[in-house]
Amino acid sequence: MTQNPVHKTFFLLRAHSKINYQFCKLISLAGKAWNQRHIEICRVFTTQSGRMNRLAKCKVIFEWALSLLVLCFVLSSPKIAVAADIGNCLLCHKYPGLSRIEGDKGIFRLLYVNEKTFNSSMHAKVKCEGCHTDIKKIPHDPAKKVDCLTQCHIIEPSSEQKFSHKDVAQFLENSVHGKLDETKQLKKFPEDRPTCKKCHDNPLYRPVSLNKTMMPGISDQSIGRCRVCHKKDEFIYRFYNHVTTRLRRSRNPKNITEVCIRCHDDINLVKRHGMSIKAVATYKESFHGKAAEFLDERIPDCLDCHVNRGESVHQMLSAKNTLSSTHENNKYKTCSNIECHPKATPRLAQFKVHAEFSKTQDPKRYYFESAFIILTGGTLLPLLGIMLLDSIRRLFPTLSRRRKK
Ligand code: HEC
Ligand code: HEC
Ligand code: HEC
Ligand code: HEC
Ligand code: HEC
Ligand code: HEC
Repeated sequence: MTQNPVHKTFFLLRAHSKINYQFCKLISLAGKAWNQRHIEICRVFTTQSGRMNRLAKCKVIFEWALSLLVLCFVLSSPKIAVAADIGNCLLCHKYPGLSRIEGDKGIFRLLYVNEKTFNSSMHAKVKCEGCHTDIKKIPHDPAKKVDCLTQCHIIEPSSEQKFSHKDVAQFLENSVHGKLDETKQLKKFPEDRPTCKKCHDNPLYRPVSLNKTMMPGISDQSIGRCRVCHKKDEFIYRFYNHVTTRLRRSRNPKNITEVCIRCHDDINLVKRHGMSIKAVATYKESFHGKAAEFLDERIPDCLDCHVNRGESVHQMLSAKNTLSSTHENNKYKTCSNIECHPKATPRLAQFKVHAEFSKTQDPKRYYFESAFIILTGGTLLPLLGIMLLDSIRRLFPTLSRRRKK
């Protein structure tokens, strides 16, 4: 269906009118019905053309006329002449209406790429075809899934090799999240071997407002220091940002937990791997997690504890692994990180960072916390009662239950 020329022009028509997203969605819903109708018409048109009813005939003629009209418009428009240029993807994809309804379930798929968001994204310097390598002609065929390990045209200066994310894949492979288990067999369940896109869901397609939580580089003010010698602002911004966004994490601790929560609080996955806790829920219960909720960026997130200092964040290891930063013998070294608890002793590391509020897991803490809840409730509730009664008396000083004589 997607290759039908009528269909294609329909989308182009919508793409070129400046209708907003919501409106487009409405049309798309109508388009869904239209689509089904369209399939019928196509069938009639190709196999049973002799028995086509008048309405269908009119519709087909109308559609072809419309398509021709649009095609003329498209071909005569000077801008579109550039469309032959493969690189100019945004020519079409910058229109918020570019979308289609897919499959039997009628999934609405937005194919619009926000130019501004893209240009301020991590991959702004990569050409569209750098990732969408299979798109070689316009109009193009349905695209294949993007492979994050594709070599791109950018040359990494220190090795002069074409750049790719292969190293990251290697780190990931050596970590708990790799594709193979201890016996070097492919892990059975797909959710046990997270792919790049699973953790890095493309921010391009997130609502723009979400991008605002990304932390900027060190400080825009210090850019003035580069201007002393470098003259072009574009060069300065590009390299300054390239370096500074890597000096610290671009996500705050809260965002990081959102990456892990999908799997690590999934009760099926937790059970299947014999993990004792829902990692994110228990982190959120802890002091660290509470501070992270308030966007305190000094607080350790999952990566600060689970990645050895100076290693790729992808190289997380099981606590059972003797090389792991969370292994029994290494834990206190992790806590005594200069930015955290410099005076930490092995005793501090006995503290359970992922303790659950449960009787079986940690009875001592359970009774301690329960006692606190009872104490707090026991003091506050009577106090509230007294305040309520007091307010009633103040509001209605003459109120009395006894009948006046
Ligand atoms: C002439 C306009 C035009 C240009 C230029 C264009 N596209 Fe598209 N693109 C479309 C339309 C229309 C669709 C929807 C196709 C459909 O529904 O059949 C689409 C769909 C897509 C999809 C989703 C397709 C799928 O089947 O999953 C991707 C990915 C894509 N385009 C990438 C690109 C890239 C990368 C470039 C530049 C190399 C590009 N496009 C240039 C019009 C264009
Ligand atoms: C860094 C790699 C990268 C670059 C550069 C890139 N894309 Fe994509 N694009 C992706 C990924 C990943 C997806 C998600 C679908 C997938 O896995 O293939 C995607 C999906 C899409 C889709 C389909 C949207 C959907 O909902 O599936 C369109 C359309 C698209 N890209 C267009 C573009 C255009 C236009 C450009 C250039 C302005 C571009 N892309 C640049 C990686 C990239
Ligand atoms: C288990 C989740 C997870 C998986 C799977 C994953 N990443 Fe990451 N990645 C992260 C986190 C978390 C960060 C740190 C984000 C930050 O600094 O804000 C990160 C950071 C990065 C960075 C920035 C440099 C760095 O190391 O800090 C790159 C590049 C990257 N990932 C690429 C990839 C690629 C390519 C894949 C697939 C081979 C992949 N990631 C798979 C979680 C993951
Ligand atoms: C005192 C002058 C001076 C200041 C200030 C300065 N640079 Fe440079 N920069 C240079 C010189 C000179 C070179 C060329 C060095 C060479 O080729 O060995 C250079 C090279 C570079 C390069 C390498 C370019 C290439 O293609 O090889 C980058 C990137 C860069 N500077 C970024 C910055 C940034 C970002 C800042 C601000 C934080 C900055 N510079 C501040 C003088 C300066
Ligand atoms: C797509 C699912 C998925 C995501 C997302 C994910 N993990 Fe995992 N993680 C797993 C699975 C499955 C295991 C168990 C692997 C095994 O035992 O083979 C695991 C194991 C771990 C372990 C080792 C536990 C142990 O045995 O001691 C740590 C630590 C860990 N993950 C941390 C993280 C952090 C931090 C994040 C977020 C940046 C994250 N994971 C994101 C699926 C995921
Ligand atoms: C303050 C350090 C610290 C932080 C922050 C932290 N962890 Fe842990 N985590 C540990 C330690 C230490 C262990 C080993 C078990 C223990 O000693 O409690 C562990 C164990 C785990 C386990 C294995 C649990 C089991 O029963 O097998 C997983 C999974 C895990 N963490 C995931 C996460 C995720 C996801 C986050 C972020 C929400 C996170 N951790 C944040 C220190 C931390």
